[in-house]
Amino acid sequence: MPVVYLNGDYIALDQARISVLDRGFLFGDGVYEVLPVYGGKPLRLDEHLARLQRSCDSIRLSNPLDRDGWAAVIGEVVARNDGGDLAVYWQITRGVGAKRDHTFPQGVAPTVFMMASPLPLPSSEQLERGITCVSMTDNRWLRCDIKAIALLSNLLLRQAAIDGGGMEAILFRDGYLTEGAASNIMLVKDGKLFAPPKDHLILPGITYDLVLELDARHGVPFEVREVAEAEVRNADELLLTSSTKEVLAITTLDGKPVGSGRPGPVFRLLHELYQQYKAKLSK
Ligand code: PDD
Repeated sequence: MPVVYLNGDYIALDQARISVLDRGFLFGDGVYEVLPVYGGKPLRLDEHLARLQRSCDSIRLSNPLDRDGWAAVIGEVVARNDGGDLAVYWQITRGVGAKRDHTFPQGVAPTVFMMASPLPLPSSEQLERGITCVSMTDNRWLRCDIKAIALLSNLLLRQAAIDGGGMEAILFRDGYLTEGAASNIMLVKDGKLFAPPKDHLILPGITYDLVLELDARHGVPFEVREVAEAEVRNADELLLTSSTKEVLAITTLDGKPVGSGRPGPVFRLLHELYQQYKAKLSK
């Protein structure tokens, strides 16, 4: 039975309970993080914690723990779930109000919940053949930079993509690429990588930053700028990044091949560099 953290206690998953008046349950009033852990070692912990702080600040929620406090809880949850390769998920909600009221309650402690699940790494088939995606109109709110637990639009978009035979929805707003329903998207044209800017329309992905860093370190040219839908449809390669998917090649979009229809050289290079980066964590 997985062991989870709830408001200071480490307990079995099936023992974890929250109030029905929790604002996360009633309103989706909270923020979250997903941290990949390889061989028991977190990848880019400080970056995830910095993003969590920004999310808390953006919704006027006081972050209940500091860097070392979070590191200790994460370490304990990882250890109690036998280490290995894990996705650590945690969320902070604005706590339990006295009644259902949109106004922020005063003097209420946030609810903190953390769990660890096996990291669902990409399959060898996904790595060798790439994945299929479906394009959708981005109809989410205008603060996609906040890692908010309220994910209804993302869920509807992802499910519509699955129902349409894809693995992920590629989102466009006003003719420009934003991101995936639960991932960032980049494209390659003529050997150069293009990534949409980290503004209010996308989540500032930790994997996005890492991929651009690895790219720069190995001399692959890249540019961060708005990417038009037509460019996506004419790309040589499309890449998907996230903490749980690492880097994947999108080889089919809306039933049409992307570039050659096979994972391309920039994907293969970045995948290899990502594996090397992970391998160094355990040393
Ligand atoms: N999702 N954009 C969205 C909308 C996301 O939900 C995610 C991650 C990303 C990639 O961010 P990162 O590289 O920091 O994982 C981009 C996580 C994995 C999730 O919700 O499960």
